[in-house]
Amino acid sequence: MNALLDIPLVGNEKVPQELIDRISELKARLGSRVLIVGHHYQRDEVIAFADLTGDSLDLARKVADLHGVDFIVYCGVHFMAETADMLTPPEVQVILPDLRAGCSMADMATSDQVEDAWEVLGEATDEKIIPITYINSTATLKAFCGRHGGACCTSTNARSIVNWALEQGGKLLFFPDQHLGRNTCADLGVPLDDMVVFDPLKQDGGNELDAYARAKAILWKGHCSVHQNFMPNHPDIWRARDPEIRIIVHPECRHEVVLKSDVAGSTNMIIKTIAESPAGSRWAVGTEHHLVNRLKNSHPDKYITSLSPFACQCSTMFRISPEALVASLQNIADGTPENVIRVDDETRKWALLSLERMMEIR
Ligand code: 13P
Ligand code: SF4
Repeated sequence: MNALLDIPLVGNEKVPQELIDRISELKARLGSRVLIVGHHYQRDEVIAFADLTGDSLDLARKVADLHGVDFIVYCGVHFMAETADMLTPPEVQVILPDLRAGCSMADMATSDQVEDAWEVLGEATDEKIIPITYINSTATLKAFCGRHGGACCTSTNARSIVNWALEQGGKLLFFPDQHLGRNTCADLGVPLDDMVVFDPLKQDGGNELDAYARAKAILWKGHCSVHQNFMPNHPDIWRARDPEIRIIVHPECRHEVVLKSDVAGSTNMIIKTIAESPAGSRWAVGTEHHLVNRLKNSHPDKYITSLSPFACQCSTMFRISPEALVASLQNIADGTPENVIRVDDETRKWALLSLERMMEIR
């Protein structure tokens, strides 16, 4: 293999043995009352302690099926912990080890902005509009979709959910990720000219009202700050250097990047595709760098690298450190749990409707 191709991926941090011992000891002491959950983008030194790992859909399903657990320590980001709280009985307490672990994409659609947009769209058209929110959004926006006949989706099931919405006729409002919305609609045959971007920072979303009346899909101007870093020239650079390399990307990447990829799919799909590829396969992967690093380490018989020459790390996910994890476990052991994520009853009722629709639609 040409050494030039070997873009280094940043390694994991060495965790002091004393800290590892404390986490292990607390975990053993708390037993099955406490479950540690870790999203695939979490760093290895935290994933090492997870009882459950998965992508967003996996984790939502697994958490909804849990029994006999008092605490879930959620090593992911805020919207995931909120979702876990809503999908578990009220007596289960969900803890986010560091409250700064938010999601910049989820922050790009606030409740007020979406309510304002809904009013603008109501003025623009009498047609039915189905709102679909990516799971990467606040519980309030999931509740908005529940109240307005819409649903939630993840990157794994976006195709079925968007298809469900399109089949009802009318239009689709997809938020907060314009890229997942565009990639999914295009995959389902909606022409790019039938999609319009709503920019919440501009008057009337930045378009004449006619544009919304003509469009089939209205895409919110939001993005993932990690996946948007993969550029359309990255696949070209790799292919020029290595014609055999295969490009696999997450659908939060720009449409131009997805078009140039060999495979595009959710986190679980990326993991499965690479795992099932023959020894000697070569992959440039367009997703979060801790996952790419883990794939690289767990498949030494394959060549796996990031599609981007720059580390595309989810800096908010990275807030969950072994130190934060040990503090959460210690607080539970002391009977004073902190950073408990609780969604109020009214929001929960409506948001659950959009989550339940998501779970039902296959
Ligand atoms: P999935 O876990 O659905 O692939 O989503 C990726 C992501 O960006 C999570 O925040
Ligand atoms: Fe949000 Fe992107 Fe991080 Fe996922 S990877 S939590 S979408 S910023």
